[in-house]
Amino acid sequence: MRTILLNPGPVNVSPRVRDALAGPDLCHREPEFFDLQDGIRRRLLEAFRTPRGEYTSVLLTGSGTAMVEAMTSSAVPAGGRLLVVQNGVYGERIARIARAHGIEHEVVACAPTERPAIDALALRLAHTRYDALAIVHHETTTGLLNELAPIAALCKLKGTRLLVDAVSALAGEAFDFARLAPDAVVCTANKCVQGLPGLSFALVKREFMDAMRGYPERTLYLHLPRHHDEQEKRSTPFTPAVQIAYALRAALDELIDETVDGRVARYGRAAAIVRDGVAALGLDLLLPPALRSTTLTAISLPRQLGYPALHDALKRDGFVIYAGQGPLAASLFRVATMGDVREEDYRRFVECLGAAIGRA
Ligand SMILES: Cc1ncc(COP(=O)(O)O)c(C=O)c1O
Repeated sequence: MRTILLNPGPVNVSPRVRDALAGPDLCHREPEFFDLQDGIRRRLLEAFRTPRGEYTSVLLTGSGTAMVEAMTSSAVPAGGRLLVVQNGVYGERIARIARAHGIEHEVVACAPTERPAIDALALRLAHTRYDALAIVHHETTTGLLNELAPIAALCKLKGTRLLVDAVSALAGEAFDFARLAPDAVVCTANKCVQGLPGLSFALVKREFMDAMRGYPERTLYLHLPRHHDEQEKRSTPFTPAVQIAYALRAALDELIDETVDGRVARYGRAAAIVRDGVAALGLDLLLPPALRSTTLTAISLPRQLGYPALHDALKRDGFVIYAGQGPLAASLFRVATMGDVREEDYRRFVECLGAAIGRA
């Protein structure tokens, strides 16, 4: 039986993506690798419909955090200041990265079940000059989707760079590059893009990449312009995850065929099956509909079952659910609706969940 991964990445991938791993052994300094790298970078711009000529893409070997750290540590000029919006674990991680690199920063913290108040953000930006604002599009901690449009408009007004951690969102949530005009957006291969773990990527305004070249090089390995400029020259600074790149190319071909809109709609149907199903079982959802993402649902634990027992019962049925994080661990579990999973699998999950509760 195929195990259905309901954790928010790594996700189930298609046979085509997994089979791509078996591509030929390749030296990463040969033209064949640069064809692969160029093809992925081109497909990223195409799949996410970035305005022609305005954006460039960068690949990085490493998980999503590596690319979040590459973006954060590369995107603030010397003596510059960063504002971090924090309403979950991943916003907090951006602030930790800024601290680790000695970047002057402030945090707008709100409850993990709340979006930041736009008025308060506007006030902050009116009083203090921030070179960049960083925000998580989808807070995987809770399944909360931050609304980017008003924040993008504020950043535009103030000349503040907009940096987006879209690690658990891009390809699974609507994201209009032309309308939002973010300066940098980062993501991983193995969530909604449906590739395998080991590669991450960024989509960056070309003009911002040019500016970043003049910013301090705070790390050797994660300096974003280094990766970009080498990739532009059909080169690579370090040894990349070659086979994972084969899988990413196949995953992007699938995404381009399905289209981002098509995938968002498919994930939306999956989320509706899960949400309607758990509601019918009498379980509560953490967030009201207006705050929910498409790609993850945080659900109250059944009274009769603690997380470990629920997890183990569902795993025996072939489903891997995900625990709540931090203080939410005692009361919640999470179900992601990402990956190459069929609607009938989500229906069977709801049945198995009901049966596990019934047995308890
Ligand atoms: C929003 C967000 N940012 C960053 C990360 C970190 O990604 P990784 O675990 O691939 O380093 C995650 C992982 O779930 C995430 O959901």
